[in-house]
Amino acid sequence: MRILGFESSCDETGVAVVDTRQGLLAHALHSQVAMHEHYGGVVPELASRDHIQRVIPLTRQVLAEAGLALGDIDAVAYTAGPGLAGALLVGASVAQSVAWALGLPAIPIHHLEGHLLSPLLAEPRPEFPFVALLVSGGHTQLMRVDGVGQYTLLGETLDDAAGEAFDKTAKLLGLGYPGGPALSRLAEQGDASRFKLPRPKLHSDDLDFSFSGLKTAVLVQWQKQQQGGESEALAQTRADLAAATEAAIVDALVAKSVKALESTGLRRLVVAGGVGANRVLRERLGRRLQRLAAQAYFPPLEFCTDNGAMIAFAAACRVRAGLVDVPALAARHAFSVHPRWDLAEASGVAA
Ligand code: KG4
Ligand code: ZN
Repeated sequence: MRILGFESSCDETGVAVVDTRQGLLAHALHSQVAMHEHYGGVVPELASRDHIQRVIPLTRQVLAEAGLALGDIDAVAYTAGPGLAGALLVGASVAQSVAWALGLPAIPIHHLEGHLLSPLLAEPRPEFPFVALLVSGGHTQLMRVDGVGQYTLLGETLDDAAGEAFDKTAKLLGLGYPGGPALSRLAEQGDASRFKLPRPKLHSDDLDFSFSGLKTAVLVQWQKQQQGGESEALAQTRADLAAATEAAIVDALVAKSVKALESTGLRRLVVAGGVGANRVLRERLGRRLQRLAAQAYFPPLEFCTDNGAMIAFAAACRVRAGLVDVPALAARHAFSVHPRWDLAEASGVAA
């Protein structure tokens, strides 16, 4: 079965074709970063309008790259949530329209399920069961994954997501948007030990996170240093604060991932979501898990941040697992999107 997938939950339009037997055939992505950069963050209405303009040309491009026509497609998939309501509606309405016109099923996919299964797009593929660390701009969760559609929440952030902590700290240090990659680049020139930043919940017994205090602590330090500081010294201070922020976030993510492996007795950790692209996190987790005789799996860098491949692929996994009622979805094209949506609720059969 060939599945055409659409991702439009935030500021990336992604389209892909995945074959349930052959895997990924083609994918294309348009990032809106340059557009939102002027505003220091994502402007939801602009995001929706841009998705509308990009989605059809990207679909044509993907079909051409795969050497396929629309008539060769057997099913359509789209991100139904969580995300920005207007942005989600663009992908959902295009996907449902295409499916309705062609008499195909349209499979709604949970965005985090896409992230969570994306490491299975590359070799070596982790076997089930595994622990998944989902670290994106909007979510930070540890999940136990026993199979496709079998997700149990182990712990999550009580306030800011890890990506949000990167982005907000980067913003107050004047690094622009998106902050995560910029902050992590600057951190390479910094000394992480110069500033001691808080690590709430680092030693708590649960598997939860808390990142909201971090930006306040950085703000206090940054304002103090700015008073009367020489510009050269300030540049170094900024890099040191960036390095200290990255270290604090990575410490929490590594500590709770290890705790999740210990408490479940599992030996495989899958890291997914935009923050999974972070080099320090990848290195630290890799080393720490080696000592535990456990294995860390990361998606290929291009599939860490939002993309259409992970949505078409998640749909293919659900079809293979018998979790999609294909005739019911082919017969009914009414739809809604879920701007807020728990992954554990998305485990059952989609119809
Ligand atoms: O998964 P994603 O593309 O979108 C959401 O579903 O939220 O994740 C985006 C998040 C942003 O907060 C971004 O700053 C962060 O991932 N990010 C990074 C890196 N690359 C992206 N954070 C730290 N280091 C990076 N290299
Ligand atoms: Zn995402």
